[in-house]
Amino acid sequence: MSAPVLEVRDLTTVLNLAQGPVEVVRGVSLDVGAGETVGLVGESGCGKTMAMLSVMGLHPQPPAEIVAGEVIVGGRDIRKLSEEERRMVRGAQVAMVYQDPMTSLNPLMRIGDQIGEVLVAHGRSADEARNRTVEILGQVGIPQPRRAAESYPHEYSGGMRQRAMIAMALALHPQVLIADEPTTALDVTIQQQIITLVTDLQQAMGMAVIWVTHDLGVVARVAERILVMYGGHIVERGPTDQVFRDPEHPYTAGLLESIPRVRGAERHPLRQIPGAPPDPTHQPTGCPFHPRCPNAVEKCVSEMPPLTERGGADHAEHWAACWVPPEEWVA
Ligand SMILES: Nc1ncnc2c1ncn2[C@@H]1O[C@H](COP(=O)(O)OP(=O)(O)OP(=O)(O)O)[C@@H](O)[C@H]1O
Ligand code: SF4
Ligand SMILES: [Mg+2]
Repeated sequence: MSAPVLEVRDLTTVLNLAQGPVEVVRGVSLDVGAGETVGLVGESGCGKTMAMLSVMGLHPQPPAEIVAGEVIVGGRDIRKLSEEERRMVRGAQVAMVYQDPMTSLNPLMRIGDQIGEVLVAHGRSADEARNRTVEILGQVGIPQPRRAAESYPHEYSGGMRQRAMIAMALALHPQVLIADEPTTALDVTIQQQIITLVTDLQQAMGMAVIWVTHDLGVVARVAERILVMYGGHIVERGPTDQVFRDPEHPYTAGLLESIPRVRGAERHPLRQIPGAPPDPTHQPTGCPFHPRCPNAVEKCVSEMPPLTERGGADHAEHWAACWVPPEEWVA
């Protein structure tokens, strides 16, 4: 990996609920190298969005609160900066395309004014902001960008709104883009166009991308490395091809079983992982996956396995949090 542009260390976020604090992001650590593409995957409710919003310092407060950890951007822990300084890092160094379009687009403001406002807040003159807005709308493939800048979000189609959100996130040339499920609400053709667009812009601008998704197919296509999240923890991480070939965590193996794959002439039947991810208010003891894991042993119920490096020269930088090695798995 090239020098990290984003380093997250032991980030822990709780929801302060009536019954007390409940952890939804549990000691998450990750590094992202310059220009690199990382996939963050996991079923719904595993804490992907909350982890990424916490990185941005945009977790919903209340009820969410970061109680531990560091987020290092450009050598500085942005958690220690003032809100004003953090605002400068957001957008200019790390930017996010949100899962919910309405989180970032104001329905009452023209698209061009919204992008321009971000640029002006980061010190651009009104003229520079106007020119850059038209330029970036063109770069994300919005036709007639000068005219489009005058439109309101509701005048855009879903695909165009997505492009406008990407334009807003990229207006300041960030080093890292966090793209949270930017494609799930769109039809397959538009999804493909958005993925291609982000990949092209990434190459043109040299930025790193964290793709947050349920879709392992997307990760296989775009990401060099994969992070698998379950119950608020990163349970496996490593080079995408290696993790796909030799998963070291039963949850990852289960996710891989549930995507259509053709191996040689053999078609594998689709298998879903039975059950659902834990509700954070009722976290299981020990390994959070144990109630659903076919390979669980007694220790799994009482002790959380640490994330450890897996052996072998061909497993470099492949880490997993599981007590039972794959050769002892029963399923
Ligand atoms: N604003 C909020 N208030 C209270 N709880 C929340 C809030 N946002 C998320 N949660 C809870 O935090 C946990 C993690 O949610 P999160 O949205 O991070 O999951 P996710 O992995 O992004 O899921 P999805 O794939 O559906 O987007 C879930 O249990 C969710 O119910
Ligand atoms: S630690 Fe145990 S329960 Fe958890 S994934 Fe590994 S085998 Fe399954
Ligand atoms: Mg989410």
